[in-house]
Parts: sequence; structure tokens; C-alpha cells
Amino acid sequence: MRTRRAALAATASAVSLALALTACGQNSDGGGKEDKSGSGGATIGVAMPTKSSERWISDGANVVKELKAKGYKTKLVFGEDDPDQQVSQIENMITQGVDALIVAAIDNKSLNNVLQQAKDADIPVISYDRLILGTENVDYYASFDNEKVGELQGSYIVDKLGLKDGEKGPFSIELFAGSNDDNNTKYFFQGAMSALKPYMDKGELVVRSKQTALNQVTTLRWDGGTAQKRMDDLLTSSYRSTTVDAVLSPYDGISIGILSALKSDGYGTKAKPMPVVTGQDAELASVKSIIAGEQTQTVYKDLRKLARIAAGMVDAALNDKKPEINDSTSYDNGVKVVPAYLLQPVSVDRSNYEKALVDDGYYTENDLK
Ligand code: GAL
Repeated sequence: MRTRRAALAATASAVSLALALTACGQNSDGGGKEDKSGSGGATIGVAMPTKSSERWISDGANVVKELKAKGYKTKLVFGEDDPDQQVSQIENMITQGVDALIVAAIDNKSLNNVLQQAKDADIPVISYDRLILGTENVDYYASFDNEKVGELQGSYIVDKLGLKDGEKGPFSIELFAGSNDDNNTKYFFQGAMSALKPYMDKGELVVRSKQTALNQVTTLRWDGGTAQKRMDDLLTSSYRSTTVDAVLSPYDGISIGILSALKSDGYGTKAKPMPVVTGQDAELASVKSIIAGEQTQTVYKDLRKLARIAAGMVDAALNDKKPEINDSTSYDNGVKVVPAYLLQPVSVDRSNYEKALVDDGYYTENDLK
């Protein structure tokens, strides 16, 4: 049986031949039109987790742009942070006959059945930013060095409190982690703890709530309101007679919730300054908050590059080529080690946001006003 992929590859070869002929000054179709994509007009389904966060809206737009530039058609869906909805969206796209899928999972373990359907229809699957677990039906993984993200957050706190320079504190810190159904969560947390734990062990950093295990500090679906409520509770239960000096936050949306709780408790004045609060994604509201002196740090991940990598993986998978891979060992999904391309994250605070974000063309000065 001629598989969909073989058919696409055949189309791609025909297109390559057409390009070669065109390069020699001849048009293959007589109409002078040439398809430079090598895609044979395939349609790619893109499943993003939610529109509630600016980053995923950008991801959707960036991925579509990169795929269109390669000559693909696209179907883009957002799952409203509801795993069942995401499953049926992917099912629908398979029924509609997409040729490949790019998926940023809501719940990394909920997709096994639907990805089996993708496999049966010979549809390659790219796991986007979040690794899909427990299935062999994931071809490639495009993400960032997620442990490094956590290290940047943890070591920022260590530096900012002066612990590396010999300050002994003790400083108070509270820990927040991401959603427990997102594979990235444990990488971010491990990375951060590798920087923080040595100082916790020495008693120079103290978690007054005593909530230090990952399962005590996760935030379902990365929800800012949930984080705000937990921070309120922590301030009430553990910080009546002392103040908190740092809060490890894994993501800007969570940081916003934490900052709201802190403000309601009177933080952000000369007498009671804001603690060091980390974040991730360099979302516009949070970069503005950093410039305004509220949130302290974020981790910038260039989503334009991530989209480019994912589109390249689709292109390779559909044309029986090898995509660019720079990690073949770190991301075991429980069934297989998924070949990955990991981009590098960058720590951003008030001192370097212009260089990191504006000079890089991620935001304009005007965006940040
Ligand atoms: C993670 C992602 C982070 C952040 C978070 C919440 O999977 O790696 O950058 O966006 O989801 O959306």
C-alpha cells in the first residue's frame, strides 16, 4: 500500500524536479508557477493548549506563519485548557485528513488513543514545547532546555539575594511549580532546586511554609488565580511576623497571581519591598511589570525560533528527511526517547531587557510603554 507519507514524498520529488527544471530556465507546468515548498500542498493540524496566555497565541501565529512560508496549509485550534476538548479537536483534524500534527499538550498523558489514530492514518506528530508521554506515536520534540530554564530562575534568586557573595541571610523563600500534568514542570523545578537546595541545606534560605516537595507546590493548569490563592494562604499562615524575601515562580502568569497576593498584603512599599519574584515566557504584561519594578525576572524563550524548528520537523517528517536534532538522550517519554531540538532560554530582568528583547526584535520600545 502506498502510504500518505510516500505519496507526499513522491509529490515532493516531483516538485524538486520541477524546481530543477525551472532553475534550468524551463517551467514544468507550462504556467510558470512553481511550488518551492516541497510540501505538495499538504495540510498541517496545529493544536495549542489555550488562548488564555499570550504566549500560546503567539505560538499558534508563529507556527502557522512558518508552515505557510513552506507552502503548507494549516488548521489551528486552541483547547481552552481542557484535555477532553483537545483530544476531540485532534480527532476532528485527523478525520478532516491533515497530513501532520503539531501538538502542545494540555495533559501530557491524555493523548495516547488519539495519537494511535494519527499513527494508523500515517500522520507524523511533533510534540511542541511540552513532551507527550506514554506513546511511541511522537516523532520529534521541539522545545527549550527546560532544566536550564529552572536553573536560570533558581540562580537568579541566589545571585539577587547575594548568597553567592557571602550573604548568609537567613532569607525566606516560597516555591511554586507548574501544572502536574505538564512534563516540563519537573524539569523547571529540578533545575531551580539545583541552584536553591545547597542554600536551603545550609539554612541560608528557609521555606517557612515547609512546602518543599514538588507535589506540594504545583499549580494546576498554570493558573494565576490558583497561585494567587496559595500565596494568600502562605502569607497568612507563615508570614505574620516576618516577610518573604523571594518567591520561585515558574511562569509569568503564575507570577502575576503571586504579585497580586503580595500587593494585597502590603508589599511593594519602601517599608515592605517586593520580594524577588521570578517568571518565564517574557510575556508583555510581565516585562512591563519588571520595568515597573514589581516582578524581578523572567526567562525569555524566543518562540519565533521554536516555531521554525517545529515547521522544519514537519517538513522533514513528510519528506522522509532527517530534521535538525541536537538532543537524542534527555527526553524519554516512558516508551521511547524522543529526538529533540532544544533551544536556549535567556534570563531577563530590568538590567538587560532592552538588549535581550528589544534588540532581538521580540518587542519594540513602543510595545513596552
Ligand atoms: C509550559 C511552557 C512554559 C509556560 C507554561 C504555561 O509548558 O514550557 O513556557 O508557557 O507551559 O503556559
